[in-house]
Amino acid sequence: SPHEENIFLAPLGCLLLVRLRLEARTGFPDLDWHCSRVEVRACPGDPDIQVFLCDRWLRTADGDIELRSGKLCLLMDETEEKVKQQRIRQLEHHQKLIRWREFVEGAPHCVDLNSLSELGPNLRYTFKSPAANLYYLRGFAGQAESWTSFSELETVFSFIGHQNNTAKFVQAHWEEDWYFGYQCLNGCNPLLLRQTSILPPNLSVTPDMLRPFLPDCSSLEQELQTGNIYLLDYEVLDNVPANVINGKQTYLSAPLCLLHLNQRGQLVPIAIQLQQTPGPHNPLFLPSDPGCDWLLAKIFVRSADFQCHQIASHYLRTHMLGELCCVSTLRQLPETHPLHQLLMPHIRTSLQINFQARASLLAADGVFDKAMGCGLEGLPVLLSRASDRISYQSLCVPDDLTERGVDKLPQSFYAQDALRVWDALHRFVFSWVSVYYSGDDEVQQDSELQHWISDLNAHGFNNHSGFPQCFRTKAEVSKFVTMIMFSCSALHAAVNFSQLDFALWMPNCPAYMLRPPPQVKGEVMEDDIMSFLPHVNLTCRVLTALMLLSQPAVNFVPLCHYKDTIFRDDAHCRLVEAVQAELKAISDDITERNRHLALPYPYLDPEHIENSVAI
Ligand SMILES: *[C@@H]1O[C@H](CO)[C@@H](O)[C@H](O)[C@H]1NC(C)=O
Ligand SMILES: *[C@@H]1O[C@H](CO)[C@@H](O)[C@H](O)[C@H]1NC(C)=O
Ligand SMILES: *[C@@H]1O[C@H](CO)[C@@H](O)[C@H](O)[C@H]1NC(C)=O
Ligand SMILES: *[C@@H]1O[C@H](CO)[C@@H](O)[C@H](O)[C@H]1NC(C)=O
Ligand SMILES: *[C@@H]1O[C@H](CO)[C@@H](O)[C@H](O)[C@H]1NC(C)=O
Ligand SMILES: [Fe+2]
Repeated sequence: SPHEENIFLAPLGCLLLVRLRLEARTGFPDLDWHCSRVEVRACPGDPDIQVFLCDRWLRTADGDIELRSGKLCLLMDETEEKVKQQRIRQLEHHQKLIRWREFVEGAPHCVDLNSLSELGPNLRYTFKSPAANLYYLRGFAGQAESWTSFSELETVFSFIGHQNNTAKFVQAHWEEDWYFGYQCLNGCNPLLLRQTSILPPNLSVTPDMLRPFLPDCSSLEQELQTGNIYLLDYEVLDNVPANVINGKQTYLSAPLCLLHLNQRGQLVPIAIQLQQTPGPHNPLFLPSDPGCDWLLAKIFVRSADFQCHQIASHYLRTHMLGELCCVSTLRQLPETHPLHQLLMPHIRTSLQINFQARASLLAADGVFDKAMGCGLEGLPVLLSRASDRISYQSLCVPDDLTERGVDKLPQSFYAQDALRVWDALHRFVFSWVSVYYSGDDEVQQDSELQHWISDLNAHGFNNHSGFPQCFRTKAEVSKFVTMIMFSCSALHAAVNFSQLDFALWMPNCPAYMLRPPPQVKGEVMEDDIMSFLPHVNLTCRVLTALMLLSQPAVNFVPLCHYKDTIFRDDAHCRLVEAVQAELKAISDDITERNRHLALPYPYLDPEHIENSVAI
């Protein structure tokens, strides 16, 4: 318009903000437009260009979008009052758009949405994957009976699991004690096992009972002191109501399991008690038990582990944590804040994927309702108990591994790889933080940052979780940001990428148990085991869900690969190149190590780690 042309006639002076608005004109469809940047010259022919990064979709419904020139910075470093006001306006706007909602009492809050379209084009993404061939498994949809025998199950497995080496290994070794222990370190849920120097008071075990399973020259007391005794405690499942599936009551147990690190370096289970409160109907199972008692006890533990894996390790620690951080980042850190930019690529997708999970997997008729021991009644109980028990320390890899005593175990590949990836991310984050905060006082004075952590705590975990209540140092901020990035990328890869491999052979991860834990020993024969395990059609339903989740994303973004223009800026670019080189070296080492292992551990190879929780 003539008015717009006028702008070019007079010199512009110093430009602070550019305001953009998308308007649909008659004769043009009302489409979203993607704008990468706005470039302005002070007058025609001027070689100097002022750049206003946009890098986002615009919609006619959004009204004015304000872009600013210049680099990322902290509020205290803004010199122009107008730009400070813009930071505040932007947060007010985001706070209207992105609101908190309670999903389950006692668990972290989630985003308040009624439909996915409310997220707008910038927070949505398309997950593209090749179609899975589920035709075979769907053929079992009407069969509500139990499997008749292991060989029947083997026939099905030979159709769906034959291409997967891990799954084939699981099927060949799932009954062996050493492999049970191996999975606690390198399976799909490597987060629960801990070293213990005392016997848990709830476990009715005496040193004499365990003597046959310990080295001749040693004693339980001595093994506890040396650090060779490990514990799995599923206390979080105690009294969680169990689902009714195909019209039948199912049963959850809350086992305690002791393991011993033997002289061959294997971690083997030596005692299992299936419920928390000791008593005459809650026997202590031992490797020397007759018949199938010991195997069945281990199957109960695996089923309890599957519930904890899905709800606590996968959904809570990666998906919900990512969403919690995403909502508070959008509400409290303006786009110009350096941590907003660093975090968003790792957490942006969590709003959509979690909204979809709540509307499908976790909703009525979803896989939890229909096919998991912890169904829709148990889910809120387990989720809020797991949230109550989460500690900040357990989310920070170096602390977690030391605290659980799994950092020194030679066969602990999750621990070794997690630590290396954590360290690389931590160095990257610390350098990023150092670009913007020259000292700890700047951390303390950054009111946006302090509001962010307060908001995150107010809607996140309770105050005995040990989450920082405020930030005092650059080190604290860097650790916290690393924790988020790690949880949404590497941890998600470790607990997600592995799940199908370990669950394809159903008896290794039964989604529910059809009969209660045995109250006496010696009554279960091999033929009875199938009557404890999931029905035919629900075994297939769980596998179908896992296979759908297992389709590789076509638009996979590996860890620390960034599309946003802001990462191409000089200062950032150097840091990104450095972390990518470190991750590449880790990847090469893991590939090399795995070549020499009978059982490779591929899940934390940085080249397979997705940058954010997208499935
Ligand atoms: C399993 O089969 C039974 C009986 O045909 C049916 O009622 C039930 O809906 C099936 N469940 C699923 C999840 O396919
Ligand atoms: C199958 O097994 C291999 C190990 O040989 C593993 O790398 C791969 O990710 C597995 N999973 C799937 C779903 O193919
Ligand atoms: C066993 O554990 C349960 C649940 O943690 C607890 O309520 C109970 O008091 C414990 N019982 C004993 C005998 O320690
Ligand atoms: C934790 O929260 C409770 C109740 O909300 C409060 O009474 C208590 O003072 C808080 N403790 C700390 C350490 O902030
Ligand atoms: C989740 O796991 C499956 C394999 O089970 C994998 O194909 C998929 O890419 C994983 N997603 C992410 C984000 O790692
Ligand atoms: Fe996931």
